[in-house]
Amino acid sequence: MTARAASVYRCQQCGFASPKPGTCPDCRRATGDLVPLVEERAASARGPRRAVTSPERPRSLREISLERGDRLATGLGELDRVLGGGVVRGSLVLIGGDPGIGKSTLLLQAARALARAAPPVLYISAEESAAQVKMRADRLGIAADGLLLWAETDLSAVQAALDDVKPRALIVDSIQTVYLPELESAPGSVTQVRECGARLMTLARGLGVATFLVGHVTKEGALAGPRVLEHLVDTVLYFEGESHHAYRILRAVKNRFGSTNEIGVFEMGERGLAEVANPSGFFLAERPQGAAGSVIVSSLEGTRPLLLELQALVARASFGTPRRTVLGADYNRVCLLLAVLEKLGGMPLASQDVFVNVAGGGRVTEPAADLGIVVATASSYMDRAVPGDALVLGEVGLTGEVRAVSGVELRLREAAALGFRRAVVPRSNAGDGAKLPLEVRGVATVGEALDALLG
Ligand code: TYD
Ligand code: MG
Repeated sequence: MTARAASVYRCQQCGFASPKPGTCPDCRRATGDLVPLVEERAASARGPRRAVTSPERPRSLREISLERGDRLATGLGELDRVLGGGVVRGSLVLIGGDPGIGKSTLLLQAARALARAAPPVLYISAEESAAQVKMRADRLGIAADGLLLWAETDLSAVQAALDDVKPRALIVDSIQTVYLPELESAPGSVTQVRECGARLMTLARGLGVATFLVGHVTKEGALAGPRVLEHLVDTVLYFEGESHHAYRILRAVKNRFGSTNEIGVFEMGERGLAEVANPSGFFLAERPQGAAGSVIVSSLEGTRPLLLELQALVARASFGTPRRTVLGADYNRVCLLLAVLEKLGGMPLASQDVFVNVAGGGRVTEPAADLGIVVATASSYMDRAVPGDALVLGEVGLTGEVRAVSGVELRLREAAALGFRRAVVPRSNAGDGAKLPLEVRGVATVGEALDALLG
């Protein structure tokens, strides 16, 4: 690691090097004895790096031309969309996710089309042996000639080979297992990860190589160690899902070349990841018909509406304190909505256990699902089913008012395309579905919504 200039101070009396200005900790001389030491090392370390990344000279915007074909298609439509229309040459893309979620599988599949369109593609496997990756490739039916596989953990060796191989796309799996031998710290340490990331950034920029990095994520959801990488790279994608559910969501959390409002949906199967073109149909496949306590809501993931089934079960509490169990939604929000339902809907929920679940392991984070939670709970309490072809949307306030939500037209269009015939939406949004083949009912209060859906 390079020391920053003036970060070390040397005592003029005894020569002791101190990290702080002020009194010398060794000979205890008075303030003023220490002077900033400008390290030559720091200055020279900065030199070559700047030479690689700095543009030739300042130019006006008009002078700068964009080359066509700067984006490469990965052949996975969902991945391309999340990237903003393919991967940009010379960019660095970080794909984070829990171990075992399918990051290696995703990139191996992307490498297939990249190797065909822009050979050669170099896949650096720093976690698995070449034979292990080959086995996976066989299973996925990948046998592209332009795909070069290399099990190597020394990044300086990779760098040295790039001149010969001249890859147009580079995959490094993973950033936590490659290392630079000149650094003393272990692979995966913050120092290694940061320096490896910076090195790869310089290479990607300098050689115009589209570069993908795999990064593992800790249980808390942070990229282990390399938080600092998120600032460095151009694009950060998270690959999420629950290991016991087959669907996976690819989400852009940072993208210098596209929107962060996109998600891609995949399904992990026998033969790797398959794109899910119609995620709503996928989520709703096992929906019970005519059952009380089930409501369909629409969650807007970026520009993409996802239909989700919310389920509630209300049962008499057998002990003093009623239970509230919430999966896939915010616990406090559900408690708040139950209080609204109790006070304004006249349902004595204080004596009832309430369980709320998003079917299929999905998650709702938007207030737009509030009304759905209220209606599902009321439906279960009253033991009366909500019509199966109805979509429910709306934010619920503490006075029981139903407030407007965003993206209503988008959500309604998706629902109409999937066979929904009715929707209950906030009154101020009721006009948003005017052109759609849906019977849209605007409601201003929770009471009106319950009347409309449960009679
Ligand atoms: P992997 O891509 O190795 O995950 P990561 O690189 O994120 O750690 O995928 C691991 C899981 O995916 C593994 O549990 C097996 C499963 N899998 C399938 O179900 N089908 C397949 O075709 C492949 C290749 C993997
Ligand atoms: Mg892997």
